[in-house]
Amino acid sequence: MKINPFNPNSPTGPGMFAGRIKEIEAIEQILLQTKANKGHGFLLLGQRGIGKTSLLNLVKYQAEGKIQTKGQNLNFLVVEIDITKETSLFTLIKKIELALKRKLAKSEPTRKLFSDIWNFLGKVEIAGVKVNTSQEYDKELLFEEFSYSLADTLKRITVNTGDNFESTHDGILIIIDETDNATKDLDLGTFFKLLMERLQKEGSQQLMIGIAGLPKTKEILIESHPSSIRIFEELNLDRLSDEDIKYVIKSVLAHSKQLNGHATDIEQIAENDLVRLSEGFPHFIHQYGYCAFELSDGVIITDENIQKGAFGNNGAIEKIGDKYYRDDFYNKIKVDSYRQVLIIMAEKLDDWVTKKHIKSKFKGQSATLDNAINALRTRGIILSKEGTQGTYRLQDKGFAWWIAMNQKKEEK
Ligand SMILES: Nc1ncnc2c1ncn2[C@@H]1O[C@H](COP(=O)(O)OP(=O)(O)OP(=O)(O)O)[C@@H](O)[C@H]1O
Ligand SMILES: [Mg+2]
Repeated sequence: MKINPFNPNSPTGPGMFAGRIKEIEAIEQILLQTKANKGHGFLLLGQRGIGKTSLLNLVKYQAEGKIQTKGQNLNFLVVEIDITKETSLFTLIKKIELALKRKLAKSEPTRKLFSDIWNFLGKVEIAGVKVNTSQEYDKELLFEEFSYSLADTLKRITVNTGDNFESTHDGILIIIDETDNATKDLDLGTFFKLLMERLQKEGSQQLMIGIAGLPKTKEILIESHPSSIRIFEELNLDRLSDEDIKYVIKSVLAHSKQLNGHATDIEQIAENDLVRLSEGFPHFIHQYGYCAFELSDGVIITDENIQKGAFGNNGAIEKIGDKYYRDDFYNKIKVDSYRQVLIIMAEKLDDWVTKKHIKSKFKGQSATLDNAINALRTRGIILSKEGTQGTYRLQDKGFAWWIAMNQKKEEK
């Protein structure tokens, strides 16, 4: 039996991580500034499968000092949180508290210290249970207590005098993933903005916030508080370069040797095709690679393996589409003319396309085209350009790539 070294369904560890030099550089800068008590944050935006969580993992390793940052081993306390549609202000705060507690409250005295600082949460829990939602603990008050407790914790972990936790740290890094799930009710932009301002007043700014999500995360923050995004340096993840992809393939195959006890090679043409097919999309590399490896003998991946793995039944393209795009393309739209519009637009990836251009290629009536565009817009499948009439684009490149691949497959 052979063990597949490709891993399309989980974020990559630092060993197989490629590229993102610019983003890493920017984040390292923020880490060092935070250590010097000038904390702020970064906002990592990108489409599904582009590598947000993988980069966050790398940042975590750096912040915890498992990987060096500009020649030094940092020592941040890292708190990792995922936002879901159910996350409320209380659960967000509770999640932060739980993560801090796990790392700080290790001995009897530190447990006591910790629960003294954070004891307001116990009261909130009891109040919440007792009054049964009609009279919840006041949200603003909850925020106030939280920010004081966090400031207090920060002070006690960043200096090593007095009544403190066991080890000193460079600061706290709160990593929040899947931020696009944040509801309006959570009011995340306001939360971050007020928190940073409060910490500044308290003089303890060794807090760094790293948040990641789909591009719409930015709008969610702005809607909650227009100036909240000023706290964050915006980093947009795009495709990896061909060099980066080759590096990923190389390191995954090296990993295969560890897993299987013998080397796995790839034919030169096969590698070229894998690079070409994945078009810089990290999730795609792993998915195409996975399917090809399954078909291979585990010793050498041939070009036939790549082709069949991609275009064959239950192949990579199908898997990618099922995961990310099928629902938009087939279930949310039932009319062929709508799909025709998407196919025309996909030729330009996620660039802006004018209605005039679509019309020049559209086979059908003008009214049918109008209908199609309207329906696609209201379903959020295409976006219209603000302030400009009749200009649209697809949500992301990945969707366009899949449509094109799907087309090719249907033509075959
Ligand atoms: N820089 C990278 N180098 C190598 N592989 C990567 C890189 N970034 C992502 N990958 C791979 O791509 C796939 C998707 O990555 P990841 O889960 O980090 O993306 P994501 O943006 O968090 O996706 P989602 O929006 O679905 O949460 C994984 O298989 C991961 O191993
Ligand atoms: Mg992710």
